[in-house]
This record gives sequence, C-alpha cells and structure tokens, in this order.
Amino acid sequence: MSLIKEIEKRKTFGIISHPDAGKTTLTEKLLLFGGAIQTAGAVKSNKIKRTTVSDFMEIEKQRGISVATSVMAFEYRDKKINILDTPGHQDFAEDTYRTLTAVDSAIVVIDVAKGVEAQTEKLVNVCRRRSTPIIVFINKLDREGRDGFDLLDELEQKLDLIVRPLSWPVGMGQSFQGVYSLYEQKLVLFRPHGKQAADEVIEFSDLDSPELENHIGEQAAKTLREEITMIEEVYPPFDKDDYMEGLLSPVFFGSAVNNFGVRELLDCFVDIAPTPLPRPTEEREVDPAEKNFTGFVFKIHANIDPRHRDRIAFLRICSGTFERNTNYLHVRHGKKVRFSNPTSFMASKKEIVDKAFPGDVVGLYDTGNFKIGDTLTEGEELHFTGIPSFSPEQFRYVENGDPMKAKQLAKGIRQLMDEGVAQLFVKENNNRKIIGTVGALQFEVIQYRLEHEYGAKCVYEPTNMHKACWVTCDDDKAFKEFHVRRKKDLARDKDGNLVFLAESAWALKMAQDNHPEVEFYFTSDMRKEQ
Ligand code: G4P
Repeated sequence: MSLIKEIEKRKTFGIISHPDAGKTTLTEKLLLFGGAIQTAGAVKSNKIKRTTVSDFMEIEKQRGISVATSVMAFEYRDKKINILDTPGHQDFAEDTYRTLTAVDSAIVVIDVAKGVEAQTEKLVNVCRRRSTPIIVFINKLDREGRDGFDLLDELEQKLDLIVRPLSWPVGMGQSFQGVYSLYEQKLVLFRPHGKQAADEVIEFSDLDSPELENHIGEQAAKTLREEITMIEEVYPPFDKDDYMEGLLSPVFFGSAVNNFGVRELLDCFVDIAPTPLPRPTEEREVDPAEKNFTGFVFKIHANIDPRHRDRIAFLRICSGTFERNTNYLHVRHGKKVRFSNPTSFMASKKEIVDKAFPGDVVGLYDTGNFKIGDTLTEGEELHFTGIPSFSPEQFRYVENGDPMKAKQLAKGIRQLMDEGVAQLFVKENNNRKIIGTVGALQFEVIQYRLEHEYGAKCVYEPTNMHKACWVTCDDDKAFKEFHVRRKKDLARDKDGNLVFLAESAWALKMAQDNHPEVEFYFTSDMRKEQ
C-alpha cells in the first residue's frame, strides 16, 4: 500500500475525562466494536482508587509488564484507529498533557450527572491551545442527570467550546428510551434486557411523521420534536472544516457501560476525525506524506522490573515510513541509532513491527538515551515543538539522604526527569535542587523508585512555592537587572531556561508589575495562553 493510503487509513486520538466519567468503559466498548478484544473487562482501568504509593507501584508494575495499555489499536471500517491511553489519576496530568501532543483529535467524556469537572477543564484547555479537534460524549444517560441544554451551556461556558449536538437523548434515567441521531437521521432505541442491552435502529428522517409516537410514545415524541427544533434554531449547523480546525465540537449522548450510543459515536468519528496531520518543528512544518521518516518521543515508560532496567520510549511517527533495523538520527545526540525490536500495540497484544506509518506509535527499548521531546529523523536536524513542560503545582527541595550514594542519586534523578515524572529546577543563588510536580503522589513515587531502582535515598524539604514561570526579555540590560535583583527567586530548568519561582500569587503579580519588560510564561514553550 502506498504511503498516502497508509496515512488515509489512520486516525490517532486520545480519550480524556475527569476520573470516573467512563473513559475506560468507552475505550473498551470501542475495542469490542473493532474486534480487538473479545470480552468486556479486558481493558484494565489505569485509575488509582486509593492514592497510596504502593497502590500506584502495583499498577505501574502490571502496566510495565503489559505496556500495551498505553496504545490500543484496532481496525474498524477499513481504518486503523490508534487510541493513546492517558493516565486516569490527576496527579499524572502532565503525562496526559504530553500524550495529547501525539494525537490528532480527542474525545471528551462527560458524566451526565456531574457535567464539566476540574480535570476535564484542564485537559480540554491543552487541546484548545493546540486546536485539536474535539468530539464530546455525554455518558451515563441510563442514570438521572442534568438537562441536555444545561450541559451544552456548560460546555460552552466552562470549556469555551462551540458545540453542535449530533445526537440527542430521548428521556433519561428511568425514562431513557434512546437517542435520535441528527447526524444519520435515525432513531436508536435502547432496550435494556437484564444485563444485556440491545438496540433497535430505525431510519427516521422526518420527525413530524406520526410514526414517532408509535415508537416512543406521545409525550416523548412531543418533547423530542420541540428539542430538535430548538437545536436547529440555536446551534450552528455541523461544519466539518470548523471541527477540523478545533472551532466546533459535535456532541453525542449515550451510555458506555450499556454500549449505547457508542456505535453512532464511532461511526461519526471514523467519518470526520482527521487523519495524521502536519506537525510543526522549530525549523519547518513536516507533512506526513513526506518520504523521509520523522518522529518524536512523547512518553517514556519505565520497566519497573529491577531485572530489566530498560525503558520503553513511545515514538509518534510524523512522516514517512519507520523501518526496523534502519539507522536513524537521534537529533539531540547527533548520533545514529537503530532498533532491532520496535514494538507495536494491538489492544492486549504487542508485537515486533517491521514498518510503521504516520499516526502510528511504536515502542522503542531504551537504556536511557531518550528524553521526552526527542526527535528521530533520516538525517535532517529537526526539532518537533509543542511538547512543553507545564508549570508544576507542588514543589519540594530534594537532598541526598545517603552521602555514599550521591552518584546513584544524580543518575536516578536525571533519568526520572527525562521520563517526565517531574521537573527539576536548580536555584541560581545556591544550586539547591527543587522538584516540581503536578500532584503530591509523584514525590512518593520518585522516592520509592530512587530507592528500588537506583539504590539511592532522597529526602525532601518543604518550600512554600506557588508557581514556576518561564521568563524571557528582549531588553538585555533590563533582564540582567532582573536577574541580579531576583536571583534568590530564579532557577534553571532541565534545558537551562530561566524560571521564576513565585512564593505566592501576590509575589508573582508584584514581580510582573515591577518588571514590566520581562515576559512570564506558564509553559516552557513560552506561549501566552495558560
Ligand atoms: P474512568 O476510566 O473515566 O475513570 O471511568 P470508568 O470507565 O472506570 O467508569 C467509572 C464508573 O462508571 C464505573 O463504575 C463504570 O462501570 C461506570 N460507568 C461507565 N459508563 C457508565 C454508564 O453509561 N452508565 C452507568 N450507570 N455507569 C457507567 P464503578 O462502579 O466505579 O466500577 P466497576 O466496578 O463497575 O468497574
């Protein structure tokens, strides 16, 4: 098959949600449709119910053994669909942010009773920064929840999305009868039979037909007609180009656990979701159809088994054909590398791949050569952009707990930071090291892994920091002065960029007011939006 055909066949996306909205359940139902798994329950939730480190390590160990859960691929209607898994725990949100840099579109799952939750807001923000096309799935319609129009308002207000329902529920909870698909103009009726649910699909292009009453009853028919009229009047018509540019988000309703409304979602997704898109690099835009292979590492997964110290770097292919046993340029190291057993993932199986195409993700065994964001090419010096570090929310000083193991500690910290577990900042005035994370759990994970994988001990000391902001300034003189005056609040990140560590929101505002010529950014790619 030609490269173009391979590209047109692929759709790579991520499912995002606040924990418990139904991401794992929906993923599983999609895989069932694709025949990638045969039974429900095959996809393990990566959610940590109790937030203890031992719990987390247990899950990581299992995941380490079957990293397959990080990427799940299946075939449906002649398309190859790659679902990139995102961690369920909010303390690992940064991992999710980075995974979102490797997708071409996203599906956002919302619990009909809970509406837009904190984590949904953060993740959709990341998608919006990148103009990632989003489809919304409102889940758990078999339970009592919020009014559909209220939810649409909330999506617009809290997530700043322009929405367009493409399916609409007929009742809810006890009185839930099904959905009307505006996309395919059909009535899909939900028939719960004990544990199993079957659906009945009726082509229905004319809602004014008196037949509607026969299917769903008088009251429901009246309500549905009114609501659909309202949708047509209030919401913009569905426009695929707007969706592709991330300007318009179609909304679907259903119940993932009952497998209801999922096929309609998947069918529409396959029709409209983007195939692998061009990707920006510092040097130029890379088109997937270019002959030469390029790709970048967006995730590194440690193999927690101490007998195998290797890690798996997940590489998103951006252009050309990736081939096994071929020399590629590791751009940051300026060295050629080759891979004898690159791995692909098909739901629960992983297998060695000989070739992979744009949109695909391959796992590369790594002994510590990769960092998140690293680029591989056939020789061109390219650097993919848009894999920023985000301002951490928790900070602690990290010190050596065992003077005999200073080397091991330094190596452990370096490798864990390369993996993206947390961010390291080195203070400008005294060289003290500060670890910044998105959630408190990572501190324990780092301590545990340093001890178990590197034989090193670290101790933490509290610091009352509020935010890390990357700073730049066009005026060299003003920047020097800022540097001198604020030295005690400044640090360097892993790439040597200057970072301002604010003790409070007030201190940050004061610094911004006192140094108007200095720009403060909340992500390392120095973009204005937060
Ligand atoms: P997550 O990955 O987003 O965290 O959510 P997950 O799929 O694990 O779903 C969270 C809970 O919501 C699960 O119940 C799941 O069964 C339930 N759920 C998912 N979809 C639906 C739906 O359409 N309707 C209803 N009523 N429930 C749904 P749990 O009790 O936490 O776990 P489990 O023991 O059932 O697996």
